[in-house]
Amino acid sequence: MQETAKLIVDGRTFELPIVRGTEGEKALDISRLRNETGLISLDPGYANTGSCESSITFMDGEKGILRYRGIPVEQLAERSSFVEAAYLLINGELPTRQELNRFSVMLNDHSLVHEDMRAFFENFPRRAHPMGILSSMVNALRAFYPELPERGEEEEINITFTRLLSKVRTMAAASYKISRGHRVVYPRHDLSYCANFLNMMFDSPVKPYVIDDDIVQALNVFWILHADHEQNCSTAAVRLVGSARVNLYAAISAGICALWGPLHGGANQAVIEMLNRIYTEGGDPGPFILRAKDRKDPFRLMGFGHRVYKTYDPRAKIMKAMCDRILEKLNLDDPLLDIAKTLEEVALNDPYFIDHNLYPNVDFYSGIVLRALGIPLNMFTVMFAIGRLPGWISQWKESVDDPKWKLHRPRQIYVGPRERDYAPIGERK
Ligand code: SDX
Repeated sequence: MQETAKLIVDGRTFELPIVRGTEGEKALDISRLRNETGLISLDPGYANTGSCESSITFMDGEKGILRYRGIPVEQLAERSSFVEAAYLLINGELPTRQELNRFSVMLNDHSLVHEDMRAFFENFPRRAHPMGILSSMVNALRAFYPELPERGEEEEINITFTRLLSKVRTMAAASYKISRGHRVVYPRHDLSYCANFLNMMFDSPVKPYVIDDDIVQALNVFWILHADHEQNCSTAAVRLVGSARVNLYAAISAGICALWGPLHGGANQAVIEMLNRIYTEGGDPGPFILRAKDRKDPFRLMGFGHRVYKTYDPRAKIMKAMCDRILEKLNLDDPLLDIAKTLEEVALNDPYFIDHNLYPNVDFYSGIVLRALGIPLNMFTVMFAIGRLPGWISQWKESVDDPKWKLHRPRQIYVGPRERDYAPIGERK
């Protein structure tokens, strides 16, 4: 029996179907609302609006649950690798040993960037933000690689996904080296995905980079934790731009641009900038907490709060534990970690943050990990983007394959002036 909800408008009763998800979430299907009632829904920021049915990632914001294709992110962080988690997100199942080996070989085969693209990198201003470079260069990949084949040529589509996943890592490292005026380091066939990235970033003719398994593992976990997060802002951008049937590179480039924002993926850089300010101003987080609570002050506590999580972000818990492990491993002492922990302690005991359900999110501790890995601050959001790529790809693929696919085109409620005539310039006040 179809579950429905009744809507009474101008004395007329309408029944709207209720859609129920695998985990029991319920939604009002309003796909026929305007045709049947003449009404549209209005939901600024889509806080109450689902854009699709998806089988990729499940989040429970009240319980702090995050699963990729049903597998808890805690288990993947503990036991999987970023490449394996990427395969899981894109293909829906964990790979067999043979599938994983084949995927790894394809990632290696597609890890080089077309030599003609070097001219692009070399001509960006040295101080250009790496997110602007990355979104431009991902879009430019379309010029160097043929159009996405017609759907159904699964092999070709998988090569396109693998090419993008592999080259984004090479482009990010090349962009960093060129920005430093250093020689670009090429990917190596004998290194894993994460080890290759670290080597391309930090190897130098005068100081060879020593691969440390614990550091490689930390990067695997970092990227697993960022790999997907259902319909967040940047994924929604990938789906919306993708709904116009543009090529994958253009849709992913749109996602990179959305992620750049300080309220979204740019928060990891903003958190460190905030912690640095607290540190340089004496280490007392009190004034920043006061500003964050002042509704007249636009300042927000970076790395705190979330549209979906109304409890501790499960990724932040893992990231926080990783901070302690990696700093101990590297025998590093980062005063910003102490400040972050104090800030968290104060905020989580403050009625404002408790009442608003504001907890640390994935970005609150991730910057400490990236600092320990030696990643420059302006590349923090690039690291988020590389991690999120399998999620964007899987969400794009799901939307393209969705039999209910429609061009994304929201409506609006018009509140502007009523009809009026054009006024000749001499008659205007
Ligand atoms: C990511 O969606 C995802 O899944 C994103 C992400 C992913 O993996 O893709 O998880 C990654 O983007 C994490 C979020 C990173 N951003 C930040 O850390 C920036 C700081 N956080 C806030 O800007 C905010 O919490 C948002 C934008 C993340 C979410 O805010 P919402 O859901 O739009 O809620 P809101 O801005 O309407 O705030 C509701 C209330 C307001 O107070 P009132 O006016 O109701 O009294 O909570 C307050 C806000 O002022 N509030 C904060 C706050 N976040 C919300 N107050 C102080 N500091 C904050 N950080």
